Amino acid sequence: SDNRRENLYVISSRAAKFFRETMWETEEGKTIGLGYFRERGFRDDILKKFELGYSPGSWDALIEKTLAEGFKESVLEDTGLAIRNDKGKLYDRFRARVMFPIHNFTGRIIGFGGRTLKTDKSVPKYVNSPESEIYHKSNVLYGLFFAKKAIRDLDNCYLVEGYADVLSVHQAGIENVVASSGTSLTTEQVRLIGRFTKNITILYDGDAAGIKASLRGLDMILEEGLNVKVVLFPDGHDPDSYVHKIGSSAFKTYIEKNQKDFILFKTSILLKEAGSDPIKKAGVIHDVVESIAKIPDGIKASVFIRECSSLLQMEERILIAELNKLRLGKS
Ligand code: CTP
Ligand code: MN
Ligand code: MN
Ligand code: MN
Ligand code: MN
Repeated sequence: SDNRRENLYVISSRAAKFFRETMWETEEGKTIGLGYFRERGFRDDILKKFELGYSPGSWDALIEKTLAEGFKESVLEDTGLAIRNDKGKLYDRFRARVMFPIHNFTGRIIGFGGRTLKTDKSVPKYVNSPESEIYHKSNVLYGLFFAKKAIRDLDNCYLVEGYADVLSVHQAGIENVVASSGTSLTTEQVRLIGRFTKNITILYDGDAAGIKASLRGLDMILEEGLNVKVVLFPDGHDPDSYVHKIGSSAFKTYIEKNQKDFILFKTSILLKEAGSDPIKKAGVIHDVVESIAKIPDGIKASVFIRECSSLLQMEERILIAELNKLRLGKS
């Protein structure tokens, strides 16, 4: 019911306040949490804007605090802020982590991501809120509430992988940025962006996983009728690490200079993989035309067929025949 949902929003917002106060006002929080964010180069104004915080290294600090204030155990459990162990005892999900509240696009807090400060692999790097009545991962883009105005004004949305990428890119003055937060991009997320702009630029990590995810993402974006470009970062870098390495203004220039339309991106990646094997090269042509076939707008598709033809030195009519075959197969 609405009342039940409202309780989940209220506890989430209360928890975020607790994590903030812990970070800004306690010795543990200031030394460990705030120290960590500052070490990574985040400015205080960004930490405040995104309402970042720190969960203390305790099994029940949040539980004790909120139960004392009259919150019910059930709302802590339903948001996943508390977990019941097999002996029936509740414990805090987030312990000794820097906390990223996740806002829905109207600005209400609906979940959290918590990053460990440990550098070994004894615990997962990120722990996230589970699905709940107010938090559906596949419908949420991290940062959208803070980005939506800029996305509309600039008529473009930068899409990154992680929480830290959103913060760093935003801090660099590029405010039209959101993250898919690790999960592979969903149709719902693309449609959500589509309410603000029809243009997406993918800025995923410059590793094999990031490239794979970019290729998957671009097909999904094309299918939804949006335009997509891709920027690749040097291997081992993500937008966060790269902006800190080269600085804000060089970062902006890098993005401008290195953005490729999806065909150029896809063909250059696939051709590199294919090498000089002619059969594999034929496979590349097929794969690229497959992406073009996903574009609902026929005029746009034919513009891309022309580009593809010159890039791959393949006659346009052959590509069009292939395209028509694929389109017929689909319907
Ligand atoms: N992620 C997650 N759980 C993990 C690892 C990653 O939910 N165990 C999600 C997080 O949203 C994370 C994103 O996937 O931000 C991208 O993952 P990764 O590139 O590994 O992390 P970064 O965001 O680069 O984290 P950091 O810079 O803090 O190391
Ligand atoms: Mn729901
Ligand atoms: Mn990565
Ligand atoms: Mn990353
Ligand atoms: Mn990173």
